[in-house]
Amino acid sequence: MKKWLLAAAAGAVLLAGPSAAQQPIVIKFSHVVAEKTPKGQAALKFKEEAEKLLPGKVKVEVYPSSQLFGDAKEMEAIALGDVQMIAPSLSKFDKFTKKIQVFDLPFLFNDTDAIDRFQESAAGKDLLKSMESKGLLGLAFWHNGLKQISANKPLLVPEDAKGLKFRIQASDILAAQFQALGATPQKLAFSEVYQALQTGTVDGQENTWSNIYSQKFHEAQKHITESNHGALDYMVVVNAKWWNGLPQDVRDGLTKAMTIATKTNNDIAERLNKEALEKIKASGTTTVHVLTPAQRAQWQKAMKPVWDKFEGQIGKDLIDAALKSNSAKTN
Ligand code: SIN
Repeated sequence: MKKWLLAAAAGAVLLAGPSAAQQPIVIKFSHVVAEKTPKGQAALKFKEEAEKLLPGKVKVEVYPSSQLFGDAKEMEAIALGDVQMIAPSLSKFDKFTKKIQVFDLPFLFNDTDAIDRFQESAAGKDLLKSMESKGLLGLAFWHNGLKQISANKPLLVPEDAKGLKFRIQASDILAAQFQALGATPQKLAFSEVYQALQTGTVDGQENTWSNIYSQKFHEAQKHITESNHGALDYMVVVNAKWWNGLPQDVRDGLTKAMTIATKTNNDIAERLNKEALEKIKASGTTTVHVLTPAQRAQWQKAMKPVWDKFEGQIGKDLIDAALKSNSAKTN
């Protein structure tokens, strides 16, 4: 009897598992950029804050630079529960919803403040929940900034891009944008871009200053045009089922940590992009061109047909809401 009681007690201890209960929840946060970028820094800030707010309860492992999973694989990994958190560029949700592709429309936003106002608006916040039926829940938007366009020849007017092959993210809108210029788009994972530029698999690319500098794209591109023609921001997403199954106190702590990390990201994004631009200029590898207002108007006109092509899929209301954010007083 005594033996039975002892065995039962031991079993109960194992099942209730004080040791198991003390195991922290491991959150693998995978992303594709370098640590010295807005997203790279914000992911580290999230780890710091989450572990501070939930001591012993969570352990956040951050995997930068496609170390764990690259672009397409990280989407699969979050669905399978191999990672718990990713922060893809908004362009990469193309397969899940066309709504988020509103951010890809060329020359939609005047500046990052406008993007910020749109993300803070009711229409913008709704997008965080727009993929729940597909198992993805958005926790926050993180800024990177506006994209610049590069090649080994000056790109001053749209005709300069004609006949060239450009690397793009996996977005049909971005494909249409380059087709509108008479150029050929090629969808490639971020981790493959440097080599593709170096070997001439593609002639050019579009990205933010911080991504161009941290990936050394400028070393393989003689000319970059400061076109600011499109947005490159992120959505931090989790597997909705995993998130909803977390204890309430853990979800609350992670939500707080995310708010702090988002602020860090958005406070440093513009500065890091400006610093990257200065470093590219100082490197002497690349000429940076600034468009005249007339040249900029030509790019806008050449890319505008993309709006009509995708209006049906994105929704006119959403495009109008985004456009409204260009004036300071929206919401
Ligand atoms: C990123 O900033 O996460 C990568 C964007 C890209 O694929 O160009």
